[in-house]
Amino acid sequence: MDMRFVKGLGLSLSLILVFTGLGPQHPAPGQIGASSDWAVVDAVFQNKCVSCHAGPEAARGLRLDSWENTFLGSDFGEAIIPYDAENSLLIELATKYKKGSHPNELGTEALTTDEIESIKAWVQAGAPSQNGEIPFSNPTDPRLYVADQGADMVSVIDMNTNQVVRTVNLMKLGFNHMSMPHHVAVEADGSFWYLSLIMNDKILKFNRNNELVGQADAVRPGLLVLDPSGDYLYAGRSMMSVSPPESMVQLKRSTMEVEEIGVLMPRPHALAISHDGSSVYLSSLAQNRVATFKNESGDMIFDEIEGDRPHVFIGFTISPDGKTMVGTSEVTSKAFVFDLTGQESVVLTDTIGVLRAPWHPVYTADGKWVYFGNNWTNTITILDMEKHQVAKVIEGVNGLAQPHGSATSPDGRYVYISNRNMAMPEGHSKQDHVYHPRYDFGDNAHIGTVLVIDTTTQEIIKIIETEEYASGLGAAIIRK
Ligand code: HEC
Repeated sequence: MDMRFVKGLGLSLSLILVFTGLGPQHPAPGQIGASSDWAVVDAVFQNKCVSCHAGPEAARGLRLDSWENTFLGSDFGEAIIPYDAENSLLIELATKYKKGSHPNELGTEALTTDEIESIKAWVQAGAPSQNGEIPFSNPTDPRLYVADQGADMVSVIDMNTNQVVRTVNLMKLGFNHMSMPHHVAVEADGSFWYLSLIMNDKILKFNRNNELVGQADAVRPGLLVLDPSGDYLYAGRSMMSVSPPESMVQLKRSTMEVEEIGVLMPRPHALAISHDGSSVYLSSLAQNRVATFKNESGDMIFDEIEGDRPHVFIGFTISPDGKTMVGTSEVTSKAFVFDLTGQESVVLTDTIGVLRAPWHPVYTADGKWVYFGNNWTNTITILDMEKHQVAKVIEGVNGLAQPHGSATSPDGRYVYISNRNMAMPEGHSKQDHVYHPRYDFGDNAHIGTVLVIDTTTQEIIKIIETEEYASGLGAAIIRK
């Protein structure tokens, strides 16, 4: 753990230096009088881009022939992130592509400095259309939040088009570097989302427009769940912490007040909540027990799980009908099936052996399958929950690199798996970063990915690049 932390620190520090080093030469767009008008940008695209980026044969599927088409993105994801010129692929390709300023490397005319400044200013202004419409502003569109743990950022993905449509930069909000955003929990109606910051010891609250509206102190917070029927958020502790408090965080979402609930076990980690909010299930990285916390009475019931060494429970997922919970274990590489229909606590009904280090599990909307990445083998396992057996293993896919988080889209069409893609120490049995980004910008070798899996075919249909160390994913949870 320590090793990874130090590595990540080194990587990101160098990013900062690069960034501040460039600062003075690149005044903020707008300050130099660059236009932020779509008409100006459109003229540039028409002049220098649409010869290749228009119509059904557009290069990489990216069409720059209208404002609407520009925001459909390429076959891989977005070209532009509104309000974030620095991380917009289209601008990175024009300013720091190692092969030359795109499309100059293909033998056609590069963008001029003025043209780049105009595009940047327009992106920083939110990339508005001619009549001022900002892309991806519909408040009811489903959002997936990706905690980019190594980059102090959150990438916000639109689940209709599967591309990054916003970013939240924690350093720009005043949080220190290496705050380590880890996991996100989202209100059922999408109105607010919550983020754990491992190293800043904080849980943050954002509204739908990604504005920071509240924060609370919590030591080394890890996974987060929301009580669907009440005001509480619960948090376990991060794996990064070797001896965190033996308690669970209970936070009132309305006031952001925190209480600690003793859980009588070291390193509380895996976490889930029943659909009626009455029971919180929590497990330990160091002991084979599952605690069931009864919200109303405050009772805590413990179930010991057999095993000759700690299983190291990583994550829990509850079926849409609320009757079954599946847990994953890092060290013993199993999926545990628990029956939740009893009144008191959990009943272990089955264990399924799987590939090494199953990470965050997630049920599909139909309740038939559970998906998780296997962090040490760069695979994704799909469990058949009728037969209680492995139905499929996805492997050998670019972008599958130390899989970590998981989520489903509310319409049930997609499962998302995030990937850390970190550098590993020499000789480590977990593979070094295996995803090599599509474009070399000199600073992006370790960016994480989010894989989009079509739940009807169980195939990966898209590889979305995010930022360093894509860890926990958050989307509204499906309950039936
Ligand atoms: C001569 C054809 C050509 C021209 C002109 C061209 N592109 Fe491209 N573009 C490509 C090709 C081919 C790719 C695929 C990557 C590669 O081969 O470099 C690409 C990739 C891209 C991508 C990345 C898409 C992805 O997700 O991988 C962006 C963004 C992009 N172009 C923007 C532009 C912009 C902006 C212009 C105008 C300034 C432009 N391109 C002009 C051919 C072109």
